[in-house]
Amino acid sequence: MCGIVGYVGHRDCTDVLINGLSKLEYRGYDSAGIAVFNHNQKIHVAKSKGRLQNLIDRMNQDGKPTGCAGIGHTRWATHGEPSDINSHPHSGGRVTIVHNGIIENYKEIKDYLADKGVTFSSDTDTEVAAKLLDYNYNGSPIETITETIRDLEGSYALGIIFADHPNVVYAVRKESPLIVGVGENESFIASDVPAVLDYTKDYYLLEHEEIAVLTESGVQIYDSFGRKIQKELKTADWDVEAIGKGGYEHFMLKEIHEQPTAIRNTIMPRIKDGLPNLEECGITLDTLRNFRQIFIVACGTAMHAGMVGKYVIEKIARVPVIVDIASEFRYRNPIVGEGDLVIIISQSGETADSKAAMHLAKKMGAKTLAIVNAMGSSIAREADMLIYTHAGPEIAVASTKAYMVQIAVMYLFAFEMALAVGKIDEDECRRLVAMLEETPEMIERLLEKKEMTQYIASSLITADSLLYIGRGLDYALSMEGSLKLKEISYIHSESYAAGELKHGTISLIHDGMPVIAVATQKELFDKTVSNIQEVKSRGAKVILICRDSYEPETNTADLKFGLPEFDDLLMPMIAVVPLQLIAYYTSVHKGNDVDKPRNLAKSVTVE
Ligand code: F6R
Repeated sequence: MCGIVGYVGHRDCTDVLINGLSKLEYRGYDSAGIAVFNHNQKIHVAKSKGRLQNLIDRMNQDGKPTGCAGIGHTRWATHGEPSDINSHPHSGGRVTIVHNGIIENYKEIKDYLADKGVTFSSDTDTEVAAKLLDYNYNGSPIETITETIRDLEGSYALGIIFADHPNVVYAVRKESPLIVGVGENESFIASDVPAVLDYTKDYYLLEHEEIAVLTESGVQIYDSFGRKIQKELKTADWDVEAIGKGGYEHFMLKEIHEQPTAIRNTIMPRIKDGLPNLEECGITLDTLRNFRQIFIVACGTAMHAGMVGKYVIEKIARVPVIVDIASEFRYRNPIVGEGDLVIIISQSGETADSKAAMHLAKKMGAKTLAIVNAMGSSIAREADMLIYTHAGPEIAVASTKAYMVQIAVMYLFAFEMALAVGKIDEDECRRLVAMLEETPEMIERLLEKKEMTQYIASSLITADSLLYIGRGLDYALSMEGSLKLKEISYIHSESYAAGELKHGTISLIHDGMPVIAVATQKELFDKTVSNIQEVKSRGAKVILICRDSYEPETNTADLKFGLPEFDDLLMPMIAVVPLQLIAYYTSVHKGNDVDKPRNLAKSVTVE
């Protein structure tokens, strides 16, 4: 989603803005722009549709703004197509802004302003906010901002400059995230910490409707009534290397390789005496005994992690689990309330639908548990209980290591839950935990045999469409494998419960159509093999992900990726790795932009 950067300080502002925006590219965008106070104190705007490089090329051609204060933006189109005119910054006369989020009542405001004679040149809600700020402007930026935000409905993070207040940057947010970086004689605003890490690790987290003012002499923060407030300065524990590619061709490949470390960082602090211990997250055995049912609510990959969680929790703790897509949960009037636990899984902690689902669950009296990667994000701050995953920054749009640690947490949680409700004893729990602890090493070994996944990927690049099939936990995994492939390879793919195929979908199978069959569950193996034979005999080219020990007959599979022997329950932790690699190499073979697939955004902060 859109990225915001702002700067006031002694460096060349344009360089800082472009560098910061490049660190936010992972969020997904389709145009970029900056507004800088030039040395003559006039605002110079440069913007362009397309990649950041297009903006740089345009500035090289038309002249680069030079100054020491300004704002920058990468836009992910919501209102109006990606175009130069719709790109940010937008000006409303004396006010120029960049915006992340959606102003829901922009139409009413636009009509109101149009009645007053205000004209508009773009299709965006952002221009409406800029014009409203200008309309309300009374010479005092703080008063104008506090007055204007009362009229804005929806979500926003705004970076604002006023033509008659040169070299000062203002910022305000509601729902959409914004941090204020604090360096030596310089300050920053940004949608996310990586944008400022080259300059500082110290930052403030701006809360709802707080206003930041960045000047040469430092940062001041005000509340929504315009009163000065003091805030706690935080220090990022990420370093610059963590957000670099570290020698890998793509962030996605780097992040796939970081999975063993991410698992260790996430689970080890939560294991004491061989048993799960989630007390620091506010979860005890007593807490867990009292829930009558569990909802897991999330979007995309995080929802797929929830699917694995459902199978594992129900299998070993025998507590009912409903997995919901957050955008469905929030509008389907769910039967949820006191006595229920609602788990929200989110890498970014800012996903609009997941956040809204959490608010609804709280309102209806359920307890909420957030499983979140981004420190200090909205979902992390607002949930009743919180388990941070420690994947570190995930830059590739296609999530890999965040999914891995989400499922690792699902396992720990399920083990603790099963212990709490007396479905397993401590010895069994220790056995399960010990297996979970083995997974990083197993993944390390799997990552050494990538060739087969490269070969499988090369066989997929001409496909128009394919299916992923599996049963039980393998079905949950198939969902993730399929999403990963389609989002970065642009090949249509669906995941299907293997036993359900013959109720309609099997008619899609034609000669040579690839079917990726995940068959890691011993219990269900023979059943899945029967389903594989059904598609194989109709011409499908079957790629089988199964235990190494299984030697497929010719009527079962064309290609096989072999997995080591492991307990059925924990197989997803390792079986997802070849699925991620197949998606990755297919995208690479097709020459796609692996880390920044078209139309996608990393953090989906709008509905
Ligand atoms: C796919 C992917 C998305 C996210 C989804 C939720 O690779 O990354 O499907 O999982 O947008 O995002 P978070 O986890 O930030 O709530």
